[in-house]
Amino acid sequence: MTPSIDAPTAGFALAFASTIMSDLLFLVRRFVGLEQSMVAVERIKEFSELKREPPEFIEPRPPASWPTDGAIKCENLVIRYAPDLPNVLHNLNFEIKPGEKVGVLGRTGSGKSTLALSFFRFVEPTEGRILVDDIDISTIGLTDLRSRLTIIPQDPTILSGTLRSTLDVFNEYEDAEIYEALRRVHLIPSGDSAAVSDEVNANVFSNLDSHVSEGGENFSTGEKQLLCMARALLKRSKVLLMDEATASVDYATDELIGKTIRHEFAQSTILTIAHRLRTVIDYDRVILLEEGRIAEFDKPANLLANPSSKFHALCKATGKNEFAALKKVAGV
Ligand SMILES: Nc1ncnc2c1ncn2[C@@H]1O[C@H](COP(=O)(O)OP(=O)(O)O)[C@@H](O)[C@H]1O
Ligand SMILES: [Mg+2]
Repeated sequence: MTPSIDAPTAGFALAFASTIMSDLLFLVRRFVGLEQSMVAVERIKEFSELKREPPEFIEPRPPASWPTDGAIKCENLVIRYAPDLPNVLHNLNFEIKPGEKVGVLGRTGSGKSTLALSFFRFVEPTEGRILVDDIDISTIGLTDLRSRLTIIPQDPTILSGTLRSTLDVFNEYEDAEIYEALRRVHLIPSGDSAAVSDEVNANVFSNLDSHVSEGGENFSTGEKQLLCMARALLKRSKVLLMDEATASVDYATDELIGKTIRHEFAQSTILTIAHRLRTVIDYDRVILLEEGRIAEFDKPANLLANPSSKFHALCKATGKNEFAALKKVAGV
């Protein structure tokens, strides 16, 4: 094509031209490899800049049986997420007796979840303190604290694995106990035993080796919350916090679970953040949070009997039939 060059030079040029493709390919590969490796650098940078959590264990460690009664006391609790942000909780003072069932109500953003998170020190109090059985929780290592209290969060996180590893993370329980817990949260019908798990249409929950995908994505939010509840049942904590734990399950299941909780956790202190009044109407007391302050804190029946209370207004807003039903349950 280029008559001006002679044959040897042309041959020489062609010999190099034929390798250029593989050289280019090599270049692209190395570039992609470099890019991938840079992700690792990025991650190391990110981790090295993460703020360190408080220590896992603090000596002296709390007694092995702590919390034995489940008495909760909040003293002047003030929480804000960052120094330049406004307070989310303002000076909360309240006491919950051992075994009491307390509902927490309030509008979105009133600080309900923040209150629940503060019990696990996911957010640290800016001022004040929380006492569980007369021990200030800020004096307890995170591992001890978080393993003794139980929370069923608003958006449960489940790790991949099998149903057994999800429910029994540390391999502490017998299969029969796990089945019993699943039955109590109504994920498997009562009377169902492990033996039926080979049936074609078997419930995934009746086989403890069922696969759980990353983040529990093969379950609905409601099912994940029920799994968390089954885990709480196995653990039998003295203090249980639930953050709208039954928000994503249907009404009938909610009621069944309510019964289970009252029965199984009769001896435990329960703090339930609820959006359905029906869930907490038969509780011992309810806290009504308003912009991070306690607006009302009393027995549901007392609040309901007082037409000027905010709780009364909330119940009334649910409609005539529901209001009558709520009153009936509360015994007003
Ligand atoms: N991680 C966070 N960082 C900063 N502000 C937050 C954070 N989480 C919640 N908040 C603020 O705290 C307030 C209360 O939130 P939250 O406790 O989740 O309310 P609730 O559960 O009652 O809906 C909200 O105004 C929200 O903006
Ligand atoms: Mg919330």
